[in-house]
Amino acid sequence: MSAIELSKPQWSSQKVFILAAVGSAVGLGNIWKFPYITGENGGGAFVLVYLLCVALIGLPVLMSEVGLGRLGRANPPQAMANLAADFRASPLWSLLGLNGVLAGLLILSFYTVIAGWAMDYFVESAKGSFRGISGEAVGQYFSGFLANPWALLFWHTVMVGLTLAIVAKGVKGGLEKAVNFMMPLLFLILLVLVGWSAAQNSFGDSLRFLFAPDFSKLTWEAVLIAMGHAFFTLSIGMGAMMVYGSYLPEGYSITRASLWIVFADTAVALLAGVVIFTVVFGNGLEPGAGPGLLFQTLPVAFGQMSGGWFWGTLFFFLVVLAALSSAISLIEPAVSWLEQNWRMSRIRATLLLGALVWLAGIGTVLSFNAWKDVHLLPGRTFFDSLDFVTANIMLPLGGMLMAVFMAWVIPAAVRRKTFDLGLVGDALFIRDLRYIAPVGVLIVFASNLVESSLHRWIAVGVALALYALYAYNRSRYNLSIRPGE
Ligand code: PFF
Repeated sequence: MSAIELSKPQWSSQKVFILAAVGSAVGLGNIWKFPYITGENGGGAFVLVYLLCVALIGLPVLMSEVGLGRLGRANPPQAMANLAADFRASPLWSLLGLNGVLAGLLILSFYTVIAGWAMDYFVESAKGSFRGISGEAVGQYFSGFLANPWALLFWHTVMVGLTLAIVAKGVKGGLEKAVNFMMPLLFLILLVLVGWSAAQNSFGDSLRFLFAPDFSKLTWEAVLIAMGHAFFTLSIGMGAMMVYGSYLPEGYSITRASLWIVFADTAVALLAGVVIFTVVFGNGLEPGAGPGLLFQTLPVAFGQMSGGWFWGTLFFFLVVLAALSSAISLIEPAVSWLEQNWRMSRIRATLLLGALVWLAGIGTVLSFNAWKDVHLLPGRTFFDSLDFVTANIMLPLGGMLMAVFMAWVIPAAVRRKTFDLGLVGDALFIRDLRYIAPVGVLIVFASNLVESSLHRWIAVGVALALYALYAYNRSRYNLSIRPGE
């Protein structure tokens, strides 16, 4: 894994970047969210769409975002403003940075609630509560836990507090070291769990569920969720990677780093999926159980295996650490924006944002009990609504615009110098950025706007026509100001 490979002290900046970026990418999205949305959306076909989105949209957008950060050298709104000024584009591009600042805070408000569940499970596991536990008993424990808003609020508060403590101190201190050993260790535990799974009868069912696509189960909404998750899991589209990229010195390969990030992130998600569905099918549990899936399955696995108390406790501890290293990157764009553009001290900015995030998190806490039937968007609880709007709209929109900016605004010479992809690599990269990533996002967006299939194709046509118009104008403009590029 990247963290092992690149953590040998060579250039310290290279190491810092890769650790921070993998730490940001690998989190609850991989271990908690990927398995449960895969379960809800029918398995294999959904996984295939997700992998395609990661490869064709996620990777080029990740590279662009890091590149924009390195070229813009500031927090996301300011970096976009700098770049727009440098390369003669509209100052409105800084709104892209603001979209990210807002998305990060909204995501963090529910992220800390879920991380709190993992924290509770860490404590319960350490106490030995999961020894030999049955699927039914874990289910009961979990529903009892969710029904108690005070317990959720308590752990949410703890997680917000931990995140703030780390961010206020700056990322350089303890967390960096923690991430350094945590990533390999998390990977190791996942391998232990996969080894255990392989010995279970339901292992084959799990693999079939995840990797044998059944396209009849795929809906346009599932495609949107798969695409949104590609952005969420790679931490792209909101400026987290842009901030990290802004700390990156020249001469270090963004492409290589991005490939490692994508590889590590995807591996963790798939391994977690394999284990969780082995438990699901082995114990007659429901793959579509929703956000509780991880918490209703893994204790059963740990409860049955030898040394389960040790592995289980360690596992939930690592989930908490993985969540923390993602949480700090969710708030970092906002913190650095307040610091740099509003001249606030780091501590003050952190406290202010922390208070907002904590308050908004109460909505998520109540979504699982008192406000179970309160809907913000039609048919969706407060938590579901936040999750939907951020992962499926704000991040893909942000990421698409980053691709567009890299493709149509940044001059070719600057792009080539930034990524150093070689002739063929650059040709593939720019074509993906121009014709695949934005078009893919637009098609998925437009298809979800309307229900009926005729109107769907009209919406897709209109979206693509508008994009073609923009691209045509932009390339004429580029020709007029930079002949020969
Ligand atoms: N990538 C993180 C995860 O998979 O858990 C979540 C995340 C972190 C999303 C940072 C976005 C972000 F900027």
